[in-house]
Amino acid sequence: MLRRPRRNRQSAAVRGLVRETQLDTSHLVYPLFLVDGKDVKEEIPSLPGNYRMSLDHMLREIGECMALGLRSFIVFPAVPDARKDREATYSYDPDNFYLKAARAIKREFPECCLMSDVAMDPYSSDGHDGLVRGGKILNDETLPILARMAVAQAEAGFDFLGPSDMMDGRVGYLREALDAAGYTDTGILSYTAKYASAFYGPFRDALDSAPRAEADIPGDKKTYQMDPANKREALIEAELDTMEGADMLMVKPALNYLDVIHLLKSEFELPIAAYHVSGECAMLIAACRNGWLDYEQAMPETLLAIRRAGADIILTYFAKDFARMQQR
Ligand code: PBG
Repeated sequence: MLRRPRRNRQSAAVRGLVRETQLDTSHLVYPLFLVDGKDVKEEIPSLPGNYRMSLDHMLREIGECMALGLRSFIVFPAVPDARKDREATYSYDPDNFYLKAARAIKREFPECCLMSDVAMDPYSSDGHDGLVRGGKILNDETLPILARMAVAQAEAGFDFLGPSDMMDGRVGYLREALDAAGYTDTGILSYTAKYASAFYGPFRDALDSAPRAEADIPGDKKTYQMDPANKREALIEAELDTMEGADMLMVKPALNYLDVIHLLKSEFELPIAAYHVSGECAMLIAACRNGWLDYEQAMPETLLAIRRAGADIILTYFAKDFARMQQR
């Protein structure tokens, strides 16, 4: 035998030399759920090990992560029903606890990278990402609401904003609104190929943000999020987001869509992010808690696979655990 591929696997040192994919804490973004109030820390039943936290706990959590070298966070607000309305007005209310929290986080940790979604769903009494009128989810009429939300978030100190509703013309409209308000340094992480997936369940439990099925409104997001059957369509979305000024392109979910991550990485120059979503993490946690899989092996292998497919950045609920493992 002239060719023996095993020669390159014979020791940890050799394997290190030929390893094609690196996975490091610096690639990870940690999603966190914020609630109003003080001293609140409630575990999310469908995503064990993850919590809805008030600001005091979140500052402590972020401090621990920073000490582990994990510096990027995406924060989602769990908004009480009483503050939700059909126009998501609370999203840009100056008294909004989420915007206040962002200011406090950036004051205490100016060197962190803080990200936010820009979409109506956490603030909407209809539970949809866009404005609902006459049984329809309106595309263009939602834009001014998103622009007000985005400018308020930039003003509060968020570094990157993620237009996440998968509707049309978001990136360009928000880029112009941000620039006009003077926030030329605030970046846009576009949810470029976000699929109408069954794997967002635990996230919607955490925020109580599932679309409300009512007489005239659909109970799912299929008229705006992408059909899981489609891949070529992701190229159209990526091209539009690129032209409109996105700084990073995201694919979501990650594991069932590794081919889409790979495709966008091959076809576009912008950094590619992958959102390893709540349901994907929950499945692995469940198997590990049952003793069916080994968490310390299965978890990093999963993140490595997302990197190997082409993701530069991974948003994952495992970020802190990975950072802790890497420190050892
Ligand atoms: C909101 C949003 C969702 C997620 C991130 N931003 C849910 C949805 O579209 O219904 C899901 C993330 C996760 O499941 O971890 N537009």
